[in-house]
Amino acid sequence: MTRQKNISILGATGSIGDSTLSVIRQHPDRFRIVSLTCHRSVEKLCELIHEFRPEKVSVHSTSEARHVREAFPELEVFSGKEGLINIAEDPDAQIVVAGIVGSAGLFPTFSAVSSGKNVALANKEPLVMAGRLFIEEASKSGAKILPTDSEHNAIFQVLNGRTQDKIRKLVLTASGGPFRDLPLEQFPHIRLEDALSHPNWEMGNKITIDSATMMNKGLEVIEARWLFDMPVEKIEVVIHRESIIHSMVEFCDGSTLAQLGFPDMRIPISYCLGWPERLELELPNLDLTKIGSLNFTSVEPTRYPCLELAIDAARMDRSVPAVLNGANEAVVESYLKGHLHFVEIAKLLQDVMSGYQSISQKPDCPSYLRDIQTLEDAVKADQWGREEAQQRMQERVAA
Ligand SMILES: NC(=O)c1ccc[n+]([C@@H]2O[C@H](COP(=O)([O-])OP(=O)(O)OC[C@H]3O[C@@H](n4cnc5c(N)ncnc54)[C@H](OP(=O)(O)O)[C@@H]3O)[C@@H](O)[C@H]2O)c1
Repeated sequence: MTRQKNISILGATGSIGDSTLSVIRQHPDRFRIVSLTCHRSVEKLCELIHEFRPEKVSVHSTSEARHVREAFPELEVFSGKEGLINIAEDPDAQIVVAGIVGSAGLFPTFSAVSSGKNVALANKEPLVMAGRLFIEEASKSGAKILPTDSEHNAIFQVLNGRTQDKIRKLVLTASGGPFRDLPLEQFPHIRLEDALSHPNWEMGNKITIDSATMMNKGLEVIEARWLFDMPVEKIEVVIHRESIIHSMVEFCDGSTLAQLGFPDMRIPISYCLGWPERLELELPNLDLTKIGSLNFTSVEPTRYPCLELAIDAARMDRSVPAVLNGANEAVVESYLKGHLHFVEIAKLLQDVMSGYQSISQKPDCPSYLRDIQTLEDAVKADQWGREEAQQRMQERVAA
């Protein structure tokens, strides 16, 4: 009988958390949940505690921790940033699923990597902010970063240990989001609910908006650059509206290998949880005769200015991706609150990047805006981007 693997889930109450738990429900003999975290969804966390009986959990605040402790006196309950790190470093866990959204996952995900665990990495923003530090830390600690984002997981499956020097390019596919066919003159009329209805994937709100702007694909280019040690010039993005091919690798002899499957995050997650074995999953068969055709088109830059911004940031590297990430999180948060129009997202981010260009050329530019040497630098650069975006948003309201 295969030994059970112990799993910790950072962000258990989100969309990645849901998909992970759905895989684990199908394999109770293979996996045991040892620890879970949430931010504010304490009631949902309590339901998960009832069902999975973890030994440790972490919530946002001490008052929420008290509430959970009263309901489950036998449980170890942590809170705040230290709580997340306690869970990430849980010595009982062999696999940590990094499913927190945004930069909030930076320290806990890094702690999981420092502890030498297998880290199923869905939370891309930490890698965008501090990719070099993550890869260096994994090589020191012996951690295995298992790419869980569907595109990177597709490449991981295709490579399956093949040597990377034989790769001509990586091709990341993108659905194009809900506005791939919308005439450009209609963009000023896009409503929040339109941006939140993704044609192919069900995901959390932040990544759904990032998919509509295609900032998400730009962040994925940066993620791929680090995960596969690939220069940005060798990473291409194509629109593939069916989201059946999750990404492709073109090799030096002209062969292209792809991974196909329904757009369902349980597939990449199960690959990471089972790795190096493949798990059975109860999902419908992929019948290509029913799908009929798979389409590919190139990206229209005027439709997706955020993708260009992210690719430029990837090329400039150093602190630029962290600045862009912070600015994007601030702008998307504001958009989700209904304070902005969809077309303003890209404009604000362009303004922040112009502001960054001017400060970066000044002799008194802070060192964290020149390069990321530590996680603290990454946080400061992200924070600079956030504050710059907030200032631009205030100026916009005042105008
Ligand atoms: N969803 C997908 O299909 C998908 C696919 C590929 C990659 N990803 C990546 O995976 C990550 C998670 O995405 P998601 O769609 O699962 O997001 P989500 O549904 O919004 O879930 C986010 C999770 O993080 C927790 N969280 C939020 N803010 C936090 C904070 N400040 N501190 C600690 N925990 C916090 C949430 O807790 P509460 O519920 O308590 O708020 C929730 O458990 C993102 O980086 C995304 O880009 C997602």
